[in-house]
Amino acid sequence: MDIELKEGLKTVLQFYRELGFESLPLSCSDELEVANYKLNDSRNENSKDQLVEFDGIAPQCPKDAQLKVLRKEIGECQRCKLFSGRTQIVFGEGSLNATIMFIGEAPGKEEDIQGRPFVGDAGRLLTKLIEKMGFRREDVYIANIVKCRPQMNREPQGDEMSTCFPFLDRQIQVISPKVIMSLGKIATYALLDIKVPMSKFMITKTRGSVYDYKGISVVPTFHPAYLLRNPRDKWLTWEDAQAVLKII
Ligand code: URA
Repeated sequence: MDIELKEGLKTVLQFYRELGFESLPLSCSDELEVANYKLNDSRNENSKDQLVEFDGIAPQCPKDAQLKVLRKEIGECQRCKLFSGRTQIVFGEGSLNATIMFIGEAPGKEEDIQGRPFVGDAGRLLTKLIEKMGFRREDVYIANIVKCRPQMNREPQGDEMSTCFPFLDRQIQVISPKVIMSLGKIATYALLDIKVPMSKFMITKTRGSVYDYKGISVVPTFHPAYLLRNPRDKWLTWEDAQAVLKII
């Protein structure tokens, strides 16, 4: 935001503060960023310079507006090296009121082409699982740890995950599901506070219990691509799915 606009906004907000307002009922549109400039609580003269404070996305605004702002903020992202190999960003999709969120690793070839998560072979298996759980794909929310396809479908690297993760974190806060089903080792490791190094982390030892991410239950399970190669383990994922259903 340019300095002149910021100064003008400061003056207006100061005026309203002097009138006794502590917040403003601004509309939740594309101008949502402006709505996030809050009146500072403190009436102390010394705090005038900090009168305007940017506070991210206004939680009182509708979820679709919040996600629109988040998507706009991501923009044509070049924050990590994955941008050079992608066709497009795969933001995530699903119901804004989803009680279950499925989080995978990274877009693959088909996802990169279509701009949608889990639409290839692994995605078809995930859709089957969702339906077996009694939902339609549109009822849940699906996203990935990173939003761009790693070339040759390699695993996303630590710096790529940590750069992208804050956007997923905000998506989770907006959707606010009751439970997250983390799909595979990478997604589970990124979401949970795991003490062992990634090379020693095993999804087989982690699945079977319920964990927590900022107050939201996390049920880890196998990645659908693993299940395509190891169909004999599908029953374990079904057990995990039942743990999810128990929570909601
Ligand atoms: N694998 C993932 O982890 N995510 C996708 O979106 C597709 C395949």
